[in-house]
Amino acid sequence: MCGIIGYIGKKNPIEFLIDGLKKLEYRGYDSSGIAIKDENSVQLIKSTGRIKNLENKINNTKVLDGNIGIAHTRWATHGMPTVANAHPHKVSKVTLVHNGIIENAEELKAKLMEEGQIFKSDTDTEVACAVINKYYTGNPISAITKATNILRGSYAFGIIFDDQDKLYAVRKDSPLIVGIGNYENYIASDIAAIINYTNKYMLLNDNEVIELSNDNIKIYKDNKEIKKEVSTANISAEEADKGDYKHFMLKEIMEEPLVLARTLNKYINDMSKIYDISGYKEIHIVACGSAMYAGLIGKNLIEEKANIKCFVECASEYRYEKVVYDRKTLVILVSQSGETADTIAAMRKAKENDIDTLAIVNVKTSTIAREADNVIFIEAGPEIAVATTKAYLLQVAILSLIALRAAYKKGLEQKYTEILTEAKELPVKLQKVLNDHDKFLKIAQDIYKNHDVFYIGRGVDYAMCLEGSLKLKEVSYTHSDAYQAGELKHGTISLIEKDTPVFAIISDDKIKNKTESNVIEVASRGAKVFTITNDINIKDHYFKYVVPKIDYYFQPILIVPPLQLVGYYVGDLKGLDIDKPRNLAKSVTVE
Ligand code: AGP
Ligand code: GLU
Repeated sequence: MCGIIGYIGKKNPIEFLIDGLKKLEYRGYDSSGIAIKDENSVQLIKSTGRIKNLENKINNTKVLDGNIGIAHTRWATHGMPTVANAHPHKVSKVTLVHNGIIENAEELKAKLMEEGQIFKSDTDTEVACAVINKYYTGNPISAITKATNILRGSYAFGIIFDDQDKLYAVRKDSPLIVGIGNYENYIASDIAAIINYTNKYMLLNDNEVIELSNDNIKIYKDNKEIKKEVSTANISAEEADKGDYKHFMLKEIMEEPLVLARTLNKYINDMSKIYDISGYKEIHIVACGSAMYAGLIGKNLIEEKANIKCFVECASEYRYEKVVYDRKTLVILVSQSGETADTIAAMRKAKENDIDTLAIVNVKTSTIAREADNVIFIEAGPEIAVATTKAYLLQVAILSLIALRAAYKKGLEQKYTEILTEAKELPVKLQKVLNDHDKFLKIAQDIYKNHDVFYIGRGVDYAMCLEGSLKLKEVSYTHSDAYQAGELKHGTISLIEKDTPVFAIISDDKIKNKTESNVIEVASRGAKVFTITNDINIKDHYFKYVVPKIDYYFQPILIVPPLQLVGYYVGDLKGLDIDKPRNLAKSVTVE
């Protein structure tokens, strides 16, 4: 998830900065850069691709002999991964690096351009830099405070001023810590980047402005100096990678808005990168577990919107089945790891039959990524927790874009441009849902002692039930099943008794009334119904959470994260090993 590292002390910071960037590489990025300040000037060196490329550039540059520096690994959300868009950005006397998304960047950029500001990049970050510069008249704390009062969105900034021999920082929603060294001080996105230099650190709260010198740290809130305690990190570097979160799973759920913004930004700006399936007669989506459940959402959209016949198969069955291929068949493999043995076998079966293959993968160096005829990378960044969350969500997002592009190519989607524009609102809407995490904790507190939990829904809502149920099973070891809501009366409803928890997923307008009838069936037999919906008019039988409404193509992306959080919180309340559940592996590389 991109990263920031900064240094002020007696040494030239180059080595520290590069080392820090390498510690942050695991977070995923597409470009990087550093800024070094000596008494009189600030030098920027930036590069696309791996840190190695930046190191080569630095080795071939006469680098300033300064003692203040900031560095950044970027994952583009605004503007493609180019050198011009890489951080740091410099506007007049202000140089900064940024993690996060400035939501009002466009309107601020327009105003600044009217005032004569010229921009060299497409990024929201450069706009933030220009806003700080606009307010800078010699007092950095005041300029930063004024700027953060008008910037909306998420940010962690590392900031250098040409005429100040100090390092500044401020954050909101994106993580940033201050490290305390011996006659040197640091800023970093997480403790992992500096754990080899110090275990003394301070956690920053939103909009606390930090001023660092070699041997002094000052913290300001609303321009007034405040005190802050120093913490000691008694953790291994590996443990440190979790940052502020108790588990990787929670961290990866909370990263979803940012990784979603990056992936949407990458593909919506150039939909030709989304493989065109409109010419195929039949689609087979083959995967395992959550990846298969993501495939079910893809099937619903490909059939509903692009009018192409689509089958979803679990790879462990598909690889042994007698598959009758139509020549115009495409086999889509969905896999986070790209190393799932059954999915690899399914891919090879298709290729042996000269059938086109498309992989939707996270790990770029994986077998499936290398062997499939076509690949779309979901760009989720490393996913450490065994239970997939952000990768699943991006698999769904990519499948939605595949269906949308095919529908458009077939002349079946008149609202194509509007839908792509609406997709850009997803990260902000998802952030609003995740900000309600305490409501999902409350649900978990209500059900964590139950032995059986059921999920019901119809059509695409049923596909989401399957994923919600799997999350709960995986990390809390609670028995759970997902049922097509219309199937209950054919046997399952015999399991419903007083206080049986039942999640009802109701998002599809076409069939919501039918599902509501099924909810009444279980509620009238004593079930505790937790309704997750996008419709405020749906009846609240016991507990109801309404997610923001968004176009049909993208609604699952707002419905499933609450189910992920419920699974996480139940597992945590039961004191289980959330990130490494018993019997499970992150990638099932054997049959
Ligand atoms: C999801 O939480 C599980 N860990 C599991 O179902 C996983 O989705 C499945 O094993 C497929 O893995 P893959 O995406 O790496 O192929
Ligand atoms: N939104 C900024 C950009 O696109 C920062 C992205 C990041 O967090 O790396 O440059």
